[in-house]
Amino acid sequence: MTESAVTVENLVVTVPGATGPVRVVDDISFEIAAGNVLGIVGESGSGKSLTALSLMRLHRSPVRIDNGFIRVAGTDVRSLAERELDAFRGNTIAMIYQNPMSALNPVLTIGNQLVEAIRIHNKVSRRVARNQATDMLAEVGIDRPADRLDSYPFELSGGMLQRVVIAMAMSCNPRVLIADEATTALDVTTQARVLDLLRGLIEQHDMAVLFITHDLAVASEFCDDIQVMYSGRIVERGTAREVFEDPRHPYTLGLLGSLCTLDMELDRPIPTMPRDIAELSRLAPAIDHAALEVQELR
Ligand SMILES: Nc1ncnc2c1ncn2[C@@H]1O[C@H](COP(=O)(O)OP(=O)(O)OP(=O)(O)O)[C@@H](O)[C@H]1O
Ligand SMILES: [Mg+2]
Repeated sequence: MTESAVTVENLVVTVPGATGPVRVVDDISFEIAAGNVLGIVGESGSGKSLTALSLMRLHRSPVRIDNGFIRVAGTDVRSLAERELDAFRGNTIAMIYQNPMSALNPVLTIGNQLVEAIRIHNKVSRRVARNQATDMLAEVGIDRPADRLDSYPFELSGGMLQRVVIAMAMSCNPRVLIADEATTALDVTTQARVLDLLRGLIEQHDMAVLFITHDLAVASEFCDDIQVMYSGRIVERGTAREVFEDPRHPYTLGLLGSLCTLDMELDRPIPTMPRDIAELSRLAPAIDHAALEVQELR
């Protein structure tokens, strides 16, 4: 069997609490094969972003990885020395976030930022880097790419900016891409276009992708596999089709139940999810409580 691009085993991430460390990511394991998209869904605070940040070792104190093994493209991430982290983050793994402006410097042109990103990874002249930057903007579907190099971030739309950020992320030809709510801020049409772009890049570059979203419709369309997080745990996982068509876990059922569509008649309150597992099992006594503790594997 070929080695997965991402392997996470028994990851525990903690933050300090009043009575000791709180496990905000609680003993989770998963793998992502090259060319595959693993979606993580789950409510706010369930540990999605901290899971993603663990792959890059981007936590800041007081958040810490307390246990677990993380391998990304053959690298044992937890054993990297501090001085090795920049090269690892630049060459192996890249991340795109919800707000493209947070990844860009507002006072530098798009071209300057792309040229810098390229020159960090490849020892090429400024002129060669500029040509590569033009090609990259074309690859992410930006019109008149050569002209756009001289634009400042504020001159571009949100969708275009996210394309620029994707181009920057791709400049190191990463083996693994993390997208944390990367299309959430975009309107539906722009979102669909950016997702098409990402899909093409993933196939072309055979990247493994961790795709975090609140949007279950997007997750079901875009992801190969889905894992559902609840209170720091993975409570269900399977192919996107399995999880959405035949959810096994009460939390997943609840998550799907809280979907509402525009044409839905709101004659009842929109269901919301209980905050913790104890409350969930009180509301649904028929649930086998032990099943909540076990990761649902298919
Ligand atoms: N720097 C921090 N210090 C203390 N607690 C933190 C810190 N960062 C995150 N947490 C806590 O860890 C838990 C998981 O956070 P995380 O950001 O992974 O959630 P998430 O699933 O990404 O949520 P969202 O959907 O809102 O982005 C939350 O309860 C959060 O309050
Ligand atoms: Mg988050």
